[in-house]
Amino acid sequence: MASRGNWNSKVGFILAASGSAVGLGNIWRFPYTTGKNGGALFVLVYLISVIVIALPVLLAEVSLGRFSGKNPVGAFKELRPKGGWKYLGYLGVITGVMILSYYAVIAGWTVGYFVKAVTGKFNQLDSAASAQIFGGFVSDWKLQLLLLAIFIFLTVYVVSKGVSGGIERFSMILMPMLFGILILLLIRSVTLPNAAAGLEFYLKPNFDALTPKVILEAMGQAFFSLSLGMGTMITYGSYVSKGENLPSATGWIAFFDTFIAVMAGFIIFPAIFSVGMDPAGGPGLVFNILPVIFSKIPGGIIFGPLFFALLSIAALTSTISLLEVPVAYFIDEKKWHRRTAAYIVGFVTLLFGVPSALSQGGLEWFSKLPYVNMSFLDLWDLIWGNLSLSIGAFFVAIFVGWIWKSSNALMEITKGTENFKFAFFWMIAVKFISPALILVILLSKIL
Ligand code: PFF
Repeated sequence: MASRGNWNSKVGFILAASGSAVGLGNIWRFPYTTGKNGGALFVLVYLISVIVIALPVLLAEVSLGRFSGKNPVGAFKELRPKGGWKYLGYLGVITGVMILSYYAVIAGWTVGYFVKAVTGKFNQLDSAASAQIFGGFVSDWKLQLLLLAIFIFLTVYVVSKGVSGGIERFSMILMPMLFGILILLLIRSVTLPNAAAGLEFYLKPNFDALTPKVILEAMGQAFFSLSLGMGTMITYGSYVSKGENLPSATGWIAFFDTFIAVMAGFIIFPAIFSVGMDPAGGPGLVFNILPVIFSKIPGGIIFGPLFFALLSIAALTSTISLLEVPVAYFIDEKKWHRRTAAYIVGFVTLLFGVPSALSQGGLEWFSKLPYVNMSFLDLWDLIWGNLSLSIGAFFVAIFVGWIWKSSNALMEITKGTENFKFAFFWMIAVKFISPALILVILLSKIL
């Protein structure tokens, strides 16, 4: 096992796993999905999903990973060599590549916006000028491809260096800095004129808007944000040492992740309503509004670049975890070298990323696909970032609850702690509540 690598400390695991969880999902995807789905009601369903559906799955994945010490394919194979369970692992490996392919496009935007912020493009900006900058930026297809390639290369580079040297060191220092700037932005945003309208949109639920689509998207967002349903947390769990207290570690991870997403909403919506933008503006929402907030902050010239730099790094700690799943698979199961695996998978991901990079105006056809009437990036996010993760999480819960059996999982979980107060609730959740709700929600949307 030692040769696979391990985290150096308990804090190291919490920070690395939080680094995976906290990323564009919190600061880009959560606000725009909330805006698209009508605001506060979505937030409420999201919070319930995190606690009731996602958190039990998080503990299930991490314990499965630590017990088996393997990537998702290896973990399922080891516990159930016969039967189709290993295909659940393969689904995770493929999902990792597919999510990374478009996630890296948005991560490329954060790098592009860092450069714009440094070169003073965001001074004295109103919302119309900001929208114009964004439109020009995303439809410049050469630039989009370049940024995508840069980001994938960065990810490959860190992953090729290995688990604790690369991933852990990054997460340790930078997450607290990002948090600091978010607080600053929050204070500015909620004190803007007409911020109250944004707060109302964000906090006052309209129960008439409750639809299967809202519930499905909220649940999908919970899995996406906590990096669940594709074996990331199985893989990260496999690097955790036995003495560690898993319930407390996973509780902290979910808490940090949710806290940062909720904060991002407090930054985005007051500002959106203050300048009269449409909260349902889609994937560009955050990139349209943030430069406007920075141009209204004293010292925005400094904080703007710093923020986009930190957001790029938050994205990087998530892309690393996306790539780590397929890479761990090729290392463990195919005996490839880490470097070889990282570069080859990275190259394939880059190819899959091309249509997403061209889909925000760069190439007409990818920007509005026939039949589905959405952009390639939106379609990929729906298929892989929502449906595949939900299906994966469903089968992980079934596997841990019924096949490996929750009593065995509990033995693994309690290795680092004698008193796991929520053991009974967790067992009920992972066997019944989580899988039943996921199934009902998926079916209610499809039927
Ligand atoms: N959780 C990451 C985010 O919120 O940005 C994205 C992500 C990483 C999703 C790893 C899934 C995953 F396996």
